[in-house]
This record gives sequence, C-alpha cells and structure tokens, in this order.
Amino acid sequence: MTTTENTSPTAAGSGASATQAFRASQQQGAPEGGVSAERVSTVVQAVLAGVHEAIHTHQVTYPEFQAAKQWLIDVGEGGEWPLLLDVFVEHEVEDVASRTQQGSKGSILGPYYLPDQQKLPAVTALPMRADEQGTPLTFAGQVRDTAGNPLPGAELDIWHADDEGYYSGFAPHLPEGNLRGVVAVDEQGRFEIDTIQPAPYQIPTDGPTGMLITAAGWHPWRPAHLHLIVRAPGHRSITTQLYFEGGQWLDSDVAQATKPELVLDPHPQEDGRLRSEYDFVLEPA
Ligand code: DHB
Ligand code: FE
Repeated sequence: MTTTENTSPTAAGSGASATQAFRASQQQGAPEGGVSAERVSTVVQAVLAGVHEAIHTHQVTYPEFQAAKQWLIDVGEGGEWPLLLDVFVEHEVEDVASRTQQGSKGSILGPYYLPDQQKLPAVTALPMRADEQGTPLTFAGQVRDTAGNPLPGAELDIWHADDEGYYSGFAPHLPEGNLRGVVAVDEQGRFEIDTIQPAPYQIPTDGPTGMLITAAGWHPWRPAHLHLIVRAPGHRSITTQLYFEGGQWLDSDVAQATKPELVLDPHPQEDGRLRSEYDFVLEPA
C-alpha cells in the first residue's frame, strides 16, 4: 500500500466539483408533496436547541461566534458543504434509513458519486490508466434476494479512489470515468471485477473542512474503501461501502461510516492479485 502521509488532495479540486455533482443529482427536487411546516419546525427547533445548549454549556464568546460565522461563510464559498455534511452528518441519516432495510448493510453515499458511468459485463475490469498504480484486486460475488434467489437483473454501480486516494471527476489529473463503472451481473446474479486496491482517503486539508479538523486536533482520514450502489428491478437499492481487513483508520474513520459486516478479507492469489468475495442481498421494494 502507498504511504498515506504525503498525499495532499486540494480542496479546490474536490469541493467545488462535489457541489456541482450534488446540484446535478438534485433535479428530482424536494420529497413528494413537499415538507410540512410541522416537520420543518420540529427538526429545525431540535437542531437549534442543540446549538443553543452547546453555547451555554461551553460559554461560547462573541469572538468565537464571529469566527464560526466566518468559517461557515468559507465552507459555502469553497463549495465544501457536501464534503462537510457527508463526513460529519450523513452517517446518522444512514443509520436511520438502515433501520427499515433488510438484506445487506448500507453505508454513506459520500460526495463523489457520479451517475451514468460506463456499462460493463459481469466479468470485467474497471476503466483504468495503462500504468494504474496499486495492488491488483479481483472483487467477485453474487446478488440475491432476501429469499436466496439469484437476481440476474441486478447491477453494481461501483466507484473508488486510486492508489493515492483521489477520485476521478474530482481531481483534475485523473481521466474521466477512471475506476468507475456499472456492472451488469450474469444470469446467476454473479460478477467478477478486476480493479486495484484503493488507498485511504484524506479530507482535503487546505479547505475549511480540513482547517476545522486541524484546529480541533482530529485526523482527516477515512479507511480505504470501495463504494457501491447495488440495484435490481423490483428491489430496494443498497448504497454501501466495503473496507479492507487490517486497513489503516478502520477503527477511527473520520466519517464514522464503517460497520463490521462491511469489511472484506482479501486473499493474495498465486499471481500476486488480491481476491475478495462479497455477496449482496436485496429486499423487495
Ligand atoms: C467524503 C469522502 C469520501 O470518499 C467518502 O466516502 C465520504 C465522505 C468527504 O470528503 O466528505
Ligand atoms: Fe469515498
């Protein structure tokens, strides 16, 4: 694995593009029928009560209040709201959503999903550079329903960082679509995808989110992970992430998005590739 200490993703490269990608994904608009005044009032009041309580409990001063205001302005101007919210808040929303979900465990979507990637067959390799760095990895498995039947109509939308922790579409030096694809499973619901093992991901340290992390003395790392959305007609999609046994930061993910059920245990093959198996289970919609 590459050392993770010296990579320095730029906020300028990822923040603004993450905001753009989020806006593009929101064409569907607000929840059906809008949001009731009662719901807005209940949730916003609870959020504000938490803020008010923190101010009183910790005797927040005027200079601290103004510094917070300046920082919030910077988060917006840097386009970092998707990064910030996905790192510090999304895991709770996912936790609520997962309470009604059967089958495979989910995890956060994060800010770096891009739709409409290259369609790939069941046995395939993700698009990558000719000299793509990183340990080769074969990721294989089957998609089934909660009754155990294979789902031949399923697809795996997969994306992950490269061996330096960068995502294509959010880092200008990477080719479009690199390490991304939409894999159609075979008639047994099976897939086998060649890729490389991603490196851990570091929150860009040069933007407001990174500045907050530094100011608070936290670390800015997520453990190495694969992102997946698994879909099949008539079934509830699963958005999830898979991690690697023994991986750095697995026990202290800054985004708190790991779960014990989501850790792969890749085995080295004779040819030097790593191989990992994982089966997905989808519930009826
Ligand atoms: C963030 C980045 C990720 O790659 C991820 O999976 C989750 C969150 C972020 O920077 O907010
Ligand atoms: Fe990620």
